Amino acid sequence: MHLNFARRPGGPRVSLQSKMERELIKDLLIRSGDGAAVTVAGWVRTRRDSKGGFSFIELNDGSCLKNIQVLAPADLANYESEIVKTGVGAALVCRGRLVASQGKGQSVEVHATEVQVVGQSDAEFPIQKKRHTFEFLRDIAHLRPRTNTLGAVLRLRSQISFAIHQFFHERSFHYIHTPIITGNDCEGAGQMFRVTTLDLARPPQANGAPDYARDFFHIPVHLTVSGQLEGEACALALGRIYTFGPTFRAENSNTSRHLAEFWMIEPEMSFATLADDAQLAEDFLRYVFRFALERCGEDLEFFNEWVDKTAIARLESLVAEPFLRMTYTEAVAILEQSGRKFEFPVAWGKDLQSEHERYLTEVHLKRPVILTDYPREIKAFYMKLNDDGKTVRAMDVLVPGVGEIIGGSEREDRADVLGERMREFGLEPEHYQWYLDLRRWGSTPHAGFGLGLERLVQFITGMENIRDVTAFPRTPGHAKF
Ligand code: 4AD
Repeated sequence: MHLNFARRPGGPRVSLQSKMERELIKDLLIRSGDGAAVTVAGWVRTRRDSKGGFSFIELNDGSCLKNIQVLAPADLANYESEIVKTGVGAALVCRGRLVASQGKGQSVEVHATEVQVVGQSDAEFPIQKKRHTFEFLRDIAHLRPRTNTLGAVLRLRSQISFAIHQFFHERSFHYIHTPIITGNDCEGAGQMFRVTTLDLARPPQANGAPDYARDFFHIPVHLTVSGQLEGEACALALGRIYTFGPTFRAENSNTSRHLAEFWMIEPEMSFATLADDAQLAEDFLRYVFRFALERCGEDLEFFNEWVDKTAIARLESLVAEPFLRMTYTEAVAILEQSGRKFEFPVAWGKDLQSEHERYLTEVHLKRPVILTDYPREIKAFYMKLNDDGKTVRAMDVLVPGVGEIIGGSEREDRADVLGERMREFGLEPEHYQWYLDLRRWGSTPHAGFGLGLERLVQFITGMENIRDVTAFPRTPGHAKF
């Protein structure tokens, strides 16, 4: 809760975010005698009337997990007419004195001299003081930010976003905004949402197909699946850049790890190799995990208690120990020699499945590992071909509990090889002339990676379903809110 001592909106606020701050305030209050004048504004979490002529209101304003208890005495003018009719979810502004609490469960409480019912709420408010399932809450996405879990997720997500910007700025990366509407398919997977102003009922035709030359941009365009290609153009001018924005994938995968709209962080460095990229990815993850441990204390403790009992220990161990490095070929050998029966058989040339990645990090190595140099056939066209002609300079960062969390690579910086790779993937080099041009004038070795913000928040919190770490998830069949 935020306490407003200045009795006006927008005035100085003191937060009751941490236990330490609450204890400090309690000490001050005990010394000051009859408490301090304060205003609190928030939504009712619970309310009960005592026989002694009080209403006990638990109020929460979303600033932190902890509620504040407000005691409203029966002699308030609107006690019978409004206060005792106040339901869970109602919005109140309470003025009174902040005092050290005699009761259990809170160090301070507010003795109200005025309770203004700003927005009443009735018994049909769907969130009551009991555990609701995540499935139920997804159907009321507009109200679920008022639950403990979603509140903690959204606050942590906000802090992590700040940490991400801070990490890159401390290392002189420039924040670049790449386009959301684009004609490029960066991943070459064709999983894109078309953007058009053509009349879908009767589009103009050319050679039996919609004539995009008459569409808004005069070419077919869609929502971006990644800002990487445009990011490379900026890195080849500014040196070190990162993007952090929404990306869209029309994959019809209803899994607990896929969204159709998610936020991606994509750094790109020029004059850099795969080894530099791997080091950046490791430094980045450990920085964010340390930040979460230091700055998201109470919310993280909440996840540790109610969602995943290993959440804090997992972050602590990741901060403490360096990540290993290993080639894809070495990893396949370990898996083949493991004697394990995997659901998906392991063979050189096949993509690693989550079960393989988790075996490596959880059973065999017992720590995070960065795998490099994957077979050329299973990775994207833009990754640099190694001299063996069989592998590309790709990397995946694998962590216990999740498997792959980051994917990246050194980029192919030779125009002729890149053109050939595009053709191999069925892409028309003419459509990517500008991207090839970057290899014509001042090409340098360069590398970068991509990380989905929601996967990162999922990993930190231990939340099982990616739909519960974003306020309004977009998945097949779901875009109501
Ligand atoms: O591995 P991906 O497809 O890589 C790229 O897009 C590259 N252009 C990145 C780069 O090198 N600049 O996606 C990168 C990350 C994944 O590791 C995962 O964290 C996340 O994006 N991601 C998704 N997150 C949620 N829902 C989905 N459908 C996702 N697809 C990828």
